[in-house]
Amino acid sequence: MAQLLTGQFIAGGDGIQLSSDGRFIEAPSGDRLPVKNPVTQAVMGTLHIYSPADIDAAVDRARLAVSAWSDRPLSERAALLHRWADRIHADAQPLADVLMDEIAKNAQDALDEVHRSADYIHYTAEEALRLHGEALLSDAFPGQRRNKISLTSRVPVGVVLAIPPFNYPINLAVTKIAPALMMGNTVIVKPPTQGAFSGLNIIALAYDSGIPTDALIPVIGPGSTTGDVLVRHQFINLVSFTGSSETGAHIAQQVKMVPLQLELGGKDAALVLPDADINRAADHIVSGAFAYSGQRCTAVKRVLALASVADLLNPALVERVERLTVGTPSENAIITPLISMASADYVWDLVDEAVQQGAKPLTPLQRDGSLIYPIILDHVELSMRIAWEEPFGPVLPIIRVSSVPDAIEVANRSEYGLQAALFTKDIAQAIQIAEKLDVGTVQINGKTSRGPDHFPFVGTKASGMGAQGVRHSLLAMSRVKSVVLNL
Ligand code: NAP
Ligand code: G3P
Repeated sequence: MAQLLTGQFIAGGDGIQLSSDGRFIEAPSGDRLPVKNPVTQAVMGTLHIYSPADIDAAVDRARLAVSAWSDRPLSERAALLHRWADRIHADAQPLADVLMDEIAKNAQDALDEVHRSADYIHYTAEEALRLHGEALLSDAFPGQRRNKISLTSRVPVGVVLAIPPFNYPINLAVTKIAPALMMGNTVIVKPPTQGAFSGLNIIALAYDSGIPTDALIPVIGPGSTTGDVLVRHQFINLVSFTGSSETGAHIAQQVKMVPLQLELGGKDAALVLPDADINRAADHIVSGAFAYSGQRCTAVKRVLALASVADLLNPALVERVERLTVGTPSENAIITPLISMASADYVWDLVDEAVQQGAKPLTPLQRDGSLIYPIILDHVELSMRIAWEEPFGPVLPIIRVSSVPDAIEVANRSEYGLQAALFTKDIAQAIQIAEKLDVGTVQINGKTSRGPDHFPFVGTKASGMGAQGVRHSLLAMSRVKSVVLNL
């Protein structure tokens, strides 16, 4: 059985080969990158950075393996992925322990991410088995006789580059890997530096489950260097990236003419209308804004409400925020230290600037290193940076609007377009407003959220390109091929 990684991880030009005892074999070492536990600052282990030659070797192995992997029967690929998912379920606790230590995600959320990922793999394996092609007859088109038949199917694109972010290093890896493998591609994964051990652990379990070591290959290194080399690599046939909008825009300028999937940042607005159920809205807004300390792309990152509604809503928000547990991941606290001191500094600067400009804190402004206590800021004006930027931390701006049309206009003025939440009892009105919101998904009377993972997940504007969600991802990781029979 593969030993889960928390210590030294060695990777090099020949990729990773599991030795008989499940340990990774030493490989030529490159530069080293220590990975620290963001809470304790203790070094968890050391990553060996792939050299350009290592990267070329890994991508070449993946390229040469596409034919053998895609030639395996679809049902066989599905069986291997089911075995992989079963292994992830079985090893969920040790996987979650590493995840918790690597990204300061609380124990329950870490365990949930692992099980959710295994469920995703199972669902994807099944969905791929039912992606059938079609036969088209020529005489359906004017002027044509029935002398041609087009047999269409979906074929792999080749080598898929999967780049997940730190906040879901397992789930947002498998949401790329599973559809890519099922559609016959091989996959290069560049895990986030903070989260690399978790990414490597699930790859080790994939190998243990029979997925070939040249069908799924990790390439280790900082995104700014290793990532740049990979996205430009001549033998990468599709780039699937999840991360910040800034990095996504950078990648979009680097890639060659290959398909690009981008899941990027968000500034999801919660619009609370005068007839909303205030308690329901407060429950969902607090949960949506502060889970994993606000480090979710789909976190609620601003509330838009009429002044009269805000006056009713704010006490309900404060009451719930005061109940949020603050502490360490192992204590299962909702609010834990952010991924880095730099992240915490960024959040704190946005809050400080807003307060200097007149925003009113409804909760104490309290920070202990990279731990920021949950903050609600009322009277956030549109002139403030926090009204528009993505803090990726436990802060919730309340923006008072003058009318429902004003709320829609402010919501749409954001550069982001991931999701929005709308709280009202008038469903007909909700549908009409939803149609006016320039986002990928509108949640009516619920918090903004990607799950369940077979639902479409789309970002517009600076929030991304392409559609995710099991079926959409299977289609995105493949292309149409037509074979025409001339009778
Ligand atoms: P990030 O800094 O953009 O990094 C994301 C991933 O890209 C990491 O694996 C990173 O590697 C890599 N990377 C960095 N620079 C790169 C480059 N030049 N070329 C190729 N890869 C590069 O984002 P993050 O801090 O990990 O995640 C937080 C951000 O992601 C937030 O903005 C959040 O909204 C967004 N996000 C969006 C979604 C979504 O589904 N829409 C989901 C989760 C997160 P290193 O770690 O080694 O730098
Ligand atoms: O930020 C990661 C994104 O995928 C959020 O997922 O399910 O927490 O909304 P979820």
